[in-house]
Amino acid sequence: MTATTTHPTDLATVPRATRLRGRLRMPPDKSISHRALLLAAMATGTSRIANASGALDPRSTAACLRALGVTIEGEEQDGAVDWRITSPGRAAWRTPDGPLDCGNSGTTMRLLTGLLGGTALDATLDGDASLRGRPMRRVAEPLRAMGATVDGAGDATLPPLRVVGRTPLRSIDWTTAVPSAQVKSAILLAGLAAGGVTSVTEATATRDHTERMLRARGVQVRSEAVAGATGDGAQRVSIAGGQTVRPLDQTVPGDISAAAFWLVAGAVHPDAELVLEGVGVNPTRRAVIDLLRAMGASITESASGGVETGEPTATLTVRSSDLAAIDASAGDVARCIDEVPVLALAAACARGPSRFSGAGELRHKESDRLVGIMEGLCALGADVTLDGDDLVVQGGAGRTAFGLRGATVQSLADHRLAMTFAVAGLVASGTTAIDAASSAAISYPGFFSDLERLRA
Ligand code: S3P
Repeated sequence: MTATTTHPTDLATVPRATRLRGRLRMPPDKSISHRALLLAAMATGTSRIANASGALDPRSTAACLRALGVTIEGEEQDGAVDWRITSPGRAAWRTPDGPLDCGNSGTTMRLLTGLLGGTALDATLDGDASLRGRPMRRVAEPLRAMGATVDGAGDATLPPLRVVGRTPLRSIDWTTAVPSAQVKSAILLAGLAAGGVTSVTEATATRDHTERMLRARGVQVRSEAVAGATGDGAQRVSIAGGQTVRPLDQTVPGDISAAAFWLVAGAVHPDAELVLEGVGVNPTRRAVIDLLRAMGASITESASGGVETGEPTATLTVRSSDLAAIDASAGDVARCIDEVPVLALAAACARGPSRFSGAGELRHKESDRLVGIMEGLCALGADVTLDGDDLVVQGGAGRTAFGLRGATVQSLADHRLAMTFAVAGLVASGTTAIDAASSAAISYPGFFSDLERLRA
């Protein structure tokens, strides 16, 4: 019998681990997998993506693209997929028979809004209950400014979203209200179908996979640092319309957002040494490593990593560490937006009070993650409060006495909350039960079996 069991009620139970050891290959990066599919579908011809994510979100992207007339065949390899994509090119996509189902995936919906805006098609994008509640004004407004029609429910910006494209679109010079790689990517992909140069300015440089992947496919994209209101890494990214996206074969690196769970598990557990292989360490994604190191985490990064289609990779080793509190700025939070839940757990196990400033964007993720983190960690005995949009975590008295106790916690069917609370279960006394734990499969289908391997 394994120590963790997922019951038919979708409750996972995680007893405390006495020791954590092992070597894991990280699952393929979700953000890069979405983009590799979308860019292959934009190009005319055949592209192959090796080691793509087999998680539910990228599968939603693949399903939408098939409905648009793109041929996508996959060969499953140990939880990853090798995709072969043959597309007639974006201009020859066909009108789908019904709404495109984006499932739980905001990336699918927002990037496809940008792509469809630059076609002659009329298509509707829909999703599950969580996605139907997520804000789409941030992509609807720039696309409308470019000349596409975007209509939704509620205030006309909630899914289902009907997108009626226009060719060519008008170029725009857009400043995003909140740093968002999804919005930046949607505008850049629409910009390729516009006359003239489209640019996006953001207060903090967000993940740049779209830019790197477009460049690898022969498209010129210019990124320049600009003076930002907060002086926290603002940039402008520009793209000229009319450029051709070439098909390309690509290998997807391991997901640093998945590695984050084990980095925190290894750092907060009193007897741990974990080795994580093939982790993508793109400078715009690695803030979680830098913040954990600033807290005192022992993380080594080996030079044996490589570069996979423009994305640097590394092997990371994490060992039990005595963590100190962190004061994360709004820019830091934007740079590690998906890792804040598990970093809050690290803060709960650190000495002293931590603050994650300006974290309001977490209210608009797969759940209201600010409330989800606070309630879940409090249920486990931590002291977590909200000060407006700042998350304040009091921390414990060092790693042996931080005193998390096993309890039943609600993941709100949010994959990153489910995995955060499962990691908490490895260090909390007794047993932790996580509700709706199968949501982990949204980004990391092998999460619970990897957790069991590390306990061995
Ligand atoms: C993503 C960007 C981020 C992130 C999401 C994936 C992407 O969202 O939270 O999980 O692949 O571009 P925002 O663009 O809303 O910040």
